[in-house]
Formats: sequence, C-alpha cells, structure tokens
Amino acid sequence: MSAAQNLFDPELYRDVRLPFEQARSMPPWCYTSAEFFGREVDRIFRRVWNFAGRADEVPKSGDYFTLDMFGESIIIVRGRDHVVRAFANTCRHRGTRLLKGRGNCRVISCPYHSWAFALDGALLGAPDMDRTPGFRKEDYPLLAVHLEEWAGFLFVALSDDVPPIDDYLGNIKDKFAPYRFEDMVCVRRRSYEIEGNWKLFVENAMEDYHTATVHRQSIGVQNTVQEDTTGEWDAIHMESDSTIAVLPEDDTTLPHIEGLTGRPANGTYFTVIYPQTFFGTTQDCMWWLQSLPHAPDRTTVVIGSCFPASTVARPDFEEQVAKYYLRWDKSLPEDNAITEEQHAGLRSAFARPGPLCWREPVVHALDNWVLDRVLD
Ligand code: FES
Ligand SMILES: [Fe+2]
Repeated sequence: MSAAQNLFDPELYRDVRLPFEQARSMPPWCYTSAEFFGREVDRIFRRVWNFAGRADEVPKSGDYFTLDMFGESIIIVRGRDHVVRAFANTCRHRGTRLLKGRGNCRVISCPYHSWAFALDGALLGAPDMDRTPGFRKEDYPLLAVHLEEWAGFLFVALSDDVPPIDDYLGNIKDKFAPYRFEDMVCVRRRSYEIEGNWKLFVENAMEDYHTATVHRQSIGVQNTVQEDTTGEWDAIHMESDSTIAVLPEDDTTLPHIEGLTGRPANGTYFTVIYPQTFFGTTQDCMWWLQSLPHAPDRTTVVIGSCFPASTVARPDFEEQVAKYYLRWDKSLPEDNAITEEQHAGLRSAFARPGPLCWREPVVHALDNWVLDRVLD
C-alpha cells in the first residue's frame, strides 16, 4: 500500500470480502497499524457491547473492579441495592482516576481532593466547595456507562448509539440456557499480557486448524463444525463423549451439568460474541476469555474458570480442579505464544494476505465483521 492511499478504501479489502472459499486473510496492516486500531476503537469498541467481566466477580455490595482498555477505564461496582453499575473512572472535579484494580469500598473517594461518591454515583461530599458560587453536589454525579447482564456476563457500552442487548445477542440466550451460566461460580481468573493484536487472539480461539500443531503436546487435534446463529456472535461445536477441559490423559470425577441434552451433552462449544467475548462450554464447566486491546500490538488476555455452584461445593472439587487448571495453563500460553509469533511475522514488509483453510470459517466471519464497521 502506498502512503497516499486511504487505509479505509474498500478496494483494498476485496479479497477479504470474497465468499469464504475464495477469500484471503486480512492485510497485515489491519493488525499492526495505529491508524487502523484507532478506527477500531472509534467504530467498534466505543459503539458495541463489550464484555466487562462476570457478575460473580462482585458478589457483595461495594465490590468493584476496573475495566481498562485502549486507555479508557470503567468502574464496575455493586451498589447497596445490590444493582451492578458502570461508571467512567474519572473524577467530576478535575478528572483524576478514582479506582484501580479490584476491591471493596463503602464510598468511591478521589485520591486527589477527597470528593466522595456513593456506590450509585451520587456525589456525597466535596470538601470546601461551599464558596464556589452555584455549586450543587447533585450536578456532579459520576458519569454512568450502559451496563447489561446476560446469564452473569456483564457487558458495557460506551456510547448511547448501541443496539439493544437482546438484538445484539440474538439466539445465544436460547442456545446456552441449558448450561445455567447464572448459577456458575468463577473459581479462578488469570491474566496474560501479550504482544499481539486482539483479532489474532480471537481468530486463533475460533479455528481448529492450529490445534494439531500448536497443541500437539497438550490438548491435541480438535474437529469442529460451525453453528447457526442470529445476532452478533458465532460458535463452533466439537463432538466429544466427555469434558475437554482436562488434558486427554487425565480423568475427572466432577459431574456433568445437570439437564444437558443434544449437542451440549455431546461436546463442546467455542463461542465468540463479537468483538472480544469468548467462552468455551463443555459438559462440566465453562471458561471465558477476554481480550482487552490497549494498542495494535498490545492486548491483555484474561481467562476465567467457571463451574456450577453445586460442583464447587463437592468435597473432591479442590483436588479435581487442579487437573483443569493444568489444562488451561498449558493450552492458553500455547495460543498466546503463537499469537505473538504471528504478530511478529505480520510486521514484515514482505507479509501478504494468504488463502484460508476450510477449518477457518470464523476467521473469515470475524474479519468481515470488523471490516463492515471500519471501512468507509
Ligand atoms: S480531582 Fe478528584 S477531588 Fe479533585
Ligand atoms: Fe488454541
């Protein structure tokens, strides 16, 4: 591409737009360019439902965590009324970041001049502001961000211009109702910083082509078929008699989720809610992956491991879950490492889009979902 060309000219992406069988992968700059990333932030991340975390991460009143991506920071906090809310993490006085990480608080107190906000965002206290003419506390609550919950998944939208969450999720609610995600408990979260583009990570999670090579020492070959979906999501299904959340050589005494029938009972789904919510559901558990983009080449990947509350209460749980952790701790770093290698390769001036394998339909779907939103 020459410097004079418009990066968002649809002509440049003709090969990505072709039907799947003839299509090529995205041009390398889609993963490496700051300009392309900026457009994704403006036209995707600021205008869609973003996965914020799980409701069970804030079980008690005052529990909070912050969600940090592309320089933005959002506070997720459970109020005294038990409602979970989201706020921009910026003080209404002179803008200071209010909270970091995760924890529990009775009020949200600014570290700069001690303005204090209630858990519902109301400004409670603003020291020495009584001489400022016309100052009224009720004029300066925290700025609320849209938050919706589905089955324990929390989604935030940074703009008013988002489709209703029900339209966004389409038929996902019906498909996954039997798993009762809302009754699941997240027993462990782990974060990884990767030097790679967020799309490469999601593409990897949604294709089985790499499994024979990248995971040959761990989970091995996976064979999947694409699922029918309505709404902003895609899924692939892999048949298996039993859970794939332990390594093939391991067994487990943890029970299957009660009431699963049909395809859920016969295997595993790998699902992406666009752009960056991934979850895997197998017969006995669910694990979610969140990829938080910071820059074209910098992404935080978080994995959460969820089991039904009844499973977590079993006396054999602690001993058994170690085998699941072993599996995730082996397979996810393998995916992270190959994502970094791919990103490094895409930095080359010689890198070119390549043809896709029949095992990569969701790579094509994701790439086109992104192009639908970022191109002129
Ligand atoms: S910036 Fe928060 S109290 Fe001054
Ligand atoms: Fe993988």
